[in-house]
Amino acid sequence: MGRNLLAVSDLEKNEIREIIRRAGELKELKKQGESPRSLEGMSVGLLFEKQSTRTRLSFEAGLFDLGAQAIYMNPADTQLGRGETIADTAKILSSYLDGIIIRTYGQEKASELAENSTVPVINALTDLEHPTQIISDLFSISEQGISPEKFKLAFLGDGNNIANSFVAASAIMGFDLSIAVPPGYEPNPTIMDEATEHGNSEIEVTHDPASAVRNADVIYTDVWISMGEEGKGTEVFRPFQVNKKLLSSCRKKPLIMHCLPAHRGEEITAGVMDGPSCIAFTQAENKLHAGKAILEFCLQD
Ligand code: CP
Ligand code: NVA
Repeated sequence: MGRNLLAVSDLEKNEIREIIRRAGELKELKKQGESPRSLEGMSVGLLFEKQSTRTRLSFEAGLFDLGAQAIYMNPADTQLGRGETIADTAKILSSYLDGIIIRTYGQEKASELAENSTVPVINALTDLEHPTQIISDLFSISEQGISPEKFKLAFLGDGNNIANSFVAASAIMGFDLSIAVPPGYEPNPTIMDEATEHGNSEIEVTHDPASAVRNADVIYTDVWISMGEEGKGTEVFRPFQVNKKLLSSCRKKPLIMHCLPAHRGEEITAGVMDGPSCIAFTQAENKLHAGKAILEFCLQD
């Protein structure tokens, strides 16, 4: 019953299209002060091993809107913090809850939780992927009048979880992707291989930021230091900053996107981040609407 969402590749193109469509519908309803009570009576646990503002709050508020209850768990306050296994925890949580949302380090931990749960598990970010963010961002892109199946996205910075999820999404949806990263910071090779073998989009990894953005419809960036990577240097990423000079290399007038949190002066300048082309705050809002569409998709029969 229900569906796990552990990686973008768990979804098919038609399913992503449907989640995007439903997110738009739920956004319209919300503006009218309405929400369907489609998950009435459900209890959903949020097990977060890393910090979160947007993902946690948007899922909690979204569950409330849909008639369900959210139960936040800091793993350090549970018996996980004292060594109880993830497999045992999954069995216990499944007997109380209708779904589990997990944010953790290793993707294998989210997978192990799902393998031992009888209720759907949603990945709210791991070191490897951030699938709910990328589905929500495709909704934000479509809302701007850009087809999420026919555009070019340039991702700049670190080949991290966001980059990996865009690689998987590009292969499924068919949009073109250029990833500009310093040597040694390329996206995950397994996700790259799967995408280039099975997808029908153009995916390029380059070390030249100006060539990546030249024909881009969307420029996307993210923090240089992801959660759990504290201590890593930032200097190597400097040439990949999204700034006015870089934008002068663009042939089109691209949308600027950032999943947030932003570090102005690092991956993006304050001028670009707070300028008219940047839709980062709309992206953040849309996590509520797309998150609700994802919750319905995963938790309804
Ligand atoms: N974009 C995003 O996932 O933000 P949080 O870390 O605040 O949840
Ligand atoms: N790559 C970032 C995304 C934060 C939403 C991180 O993992 O910290």
